[in-house]
Amino acid sequence: MPEIIIVKNEAEAGDIYGRCVADLIKAKPNAVLGLATGSSPLAAYRSLARIVKDESIDVSQVQGFALDEYIGLPLIHPESYHATIHRTVVEPLGLDPAKVHVPGDVLNGTPLEDGAKIASAGPAYDAAIEAAGGIDVQILGIGTDGHVGFNEPGSSLASGTRVKTLAEQTRIDNARFFDNDINQVPTHCITQGIGTIMKARHLVLLAFGSGKAEAIEETVEGGVSAFCPASALQMHPHATIIVDEEAASRLRHKDYYRYAYTHKPAWQGI
Ligand code: F6R
Repeated sequence: MPEIIIVKNEAEAGDIYGRCVADLIKAKPNAVLGLATGSSPLAAYRSLARIVKDESIDVSQVQGFALDEYIGLPLIHPESYHATIHRTVVEPLGLDPAKVHVPGDVLNGTPLEDGAKIASAGPAYDAAIEAAGGIDVQILGIGTDGHVGFNEPGSSLASGTRVKTLAEQTRIDNARFFDNDINQVPTHCITQGIGTIMKARHLVLLAFGSGKAEAIEETVEGGVSAFCPASALQMHPHATIIVDEEAASRLRHKDYYRYAYTHKPAWQGI
């Protein structure tokens, strides 16, 4: 069962992540970070960048692996996850770009029809994560339909990195990054599988706003099911879910989660 932390706002959630990862990098300079795109992790990256600067933490050895990428977008497209991760993580943190990877890096706009190239990219990505020593902390957002990475409802909970079809709802949700035009949103993606994500040593999922309340309820207090892929976190030995009041609003046991976190010994961290 994940630990649930209910915070006032994204900045407070960001500071919890920032402290956790900064301490990790101090203890393990070549830490491997799992990275997500989207709005949810932005405050967390900002907080980590601030701590890295304030405490002069050496990040030159830090490695990064993004969760997912659209199929068919060239790397230089501003909404490719390659470009997004460089803009929101690599540059502000001062990471070595050669040490930060996105599953579509080898594809760079390869069309969906190029089956041989696209099919081999997923297993190669999982092998690269293993070769780097595995992911230490994986940050996650959650879709309104309960997806993590781009593992839409119905995804195998044991899946590795592979090509998936984006759900219509996800394309509608993400049209805001494409001039509000769903036709510009790619139909397919390559994403770390749930099985890949579950191998990370620590998962930190962030969710804010009432639009995420139902997905968080299903994730935390529903059954473990491929129809809510994020519910796999219930089976992870070290998962932390950080939510604001709105995203927590449908949780039946929120008083207990709040009580447990308030009484947690500081030395435990998250
Ligand atoms: C992004 C990703 C997605 C998002 C999710 C939530 O790399 O894998 O699962 O985390 O769609 O997006 P936001 O944070 O924009 O609400």
